[in-house]
Amino acid sequence: MQAIRVMSVVGARPNFMKIAPLVRAIEAFNARPDVGRRLLHTLVHTGQHYDADMSQTFFDALAIPRPDVELGVGSGTHAEQVGRTMIAFEAVLPAHRPDWVIVVGDVNATCACALTARKEGVKLAHIEAGLRSFDDSMPEEINRIVTDRLAHLLFTPDAMADANLAREGVDPRRVHRVGNIMIDTLEAHRASAERLDPAELAVRGRVAASMEPADAPCDGRYALLTLHRPSNVDHPDVLQALTEFFIDELAPQCPLVWSLHPRTARRLRAFGLWERVIRARRVWLLEPLGYLDMLRFNMGAAIVFTDSGGLQEECCVLGTPCVTLRSTTERPITLREHGGVSELAGNSVERIRAHYRELAGAPRRVRRPALWDGHTAERIVSVLAAEGGTA
Ligand code: UD1
Repeated sequence: MQAIRVMSVVGARPNFMKIAPLVRAIEAFNARPDVGRRLLHTLVHTGQHYDADMSQTFFDALAIPRPDVELGVGSGTHAEQVGRTMIAFEAVLPAHRPDWVIVVGDVNATCACALTARKEGVKLAHIEAGLRSFDDSMPEEINRIVTDRLAHLLFTPDAMADANLAREGVDPRRVHRVGNIMIDTLEAHRASAERLDPAELAVRGRVAASMEPADAPCDGRYALLTLHRPSNVDHPDVLQALTEFFIDELAPQCPLVWSLHPRTARRLRAFGLWERVIRARRVWLLEPLGYLDMLRFNMGAAIVFTDSGGLQEECCVLGTPCVTLRSTTERPITLREHGGVSELAGNSVERIRAHYRELAGAPRRVRRPALWDGHTAERIVSVLAAEGGTA
């Protein structure tokens, strides 16, 4: 029986929910009696995200098998992260001789392993291809453009991504619209998340005991905030204005659940804002949330404020009104003008306030783009199996 050697790569938090369904779909494919091929899968973790609550928690919650290879590259500047990943990944390829390297998303690990695979003559597939913010000051945009330029197979989530690739002259035979693989993970865990209690999660995850359990968030009556983009958290003036809006103006109207990224925690401390945030009333400052906890908070939120691309997509399928704290998005399908649930506000407090007023109290309206149906990974595996080990 023909074996196709497939090596997939994860590096940072947003990758883990995209690889979990792929692993599951490969197992299901291999268990089918009617197929004449098997996919031999190896998982590589570059180690871009390494804290337990940015990495291992997700492996546990999503039942992702232990990586076969851990590169342990850790933090650093972009060049350090990409360079160290390329050097370490290059050393791994000869021992495993994969037919395909599969990368997901747009983080530094994605781009570094894409480049290395191609230079080593290994075929490359990219899941979540074709997304463009048209803002090349974002490191993720560079990663997307480079990865898509190099990929032999481009798995896209929607027609807008297909159109971007067509404009760039990508051969349409390489492009497969398969839907959004993150929604596979969401659908697989929706029922378990529903059983969780947001008040309990908040008390367990709080970073300071000053938050009173009696004020813990309850369904439909809190706003959920995540922030991590350099454009929002790396400049003292910007972070201070955002923080003041959320803790002084928003929280008195609507209790706030704020899941902290390590970069943001570090910046709040460096800019002298930390004490104010942890003392603020009706603000639940939480350690980075695990997958199920974040899903549960999203299900119960009155509104989400975020600069995360993945959360914008999850809000669509859950119907949560969303104010996106960015001035561009590579996921326009999530915007209200394209049938989604989100409005772009950038980091201007005036625009955030205006969109909050517009969306607060809006009913949940589930928006599910075509093929965001929980079966994306199966479609990807079918294409890979049909391609075989040579192309
Ligand atoms: C990365 C991705 C971004 C993604 C985000 C989600 C790139 C270019 N960016 O940005 O697309 O949305 O992850 O989290 O790849 N840190 C820790 N512990 C960790 C991980 C990071 O303390 O487990 C610290 C690092 O030391 C660094 C900061 O957090 O100071 C940022 O980490 P980094 O991986 O460089 O980029 P992110 O901002 O997380």
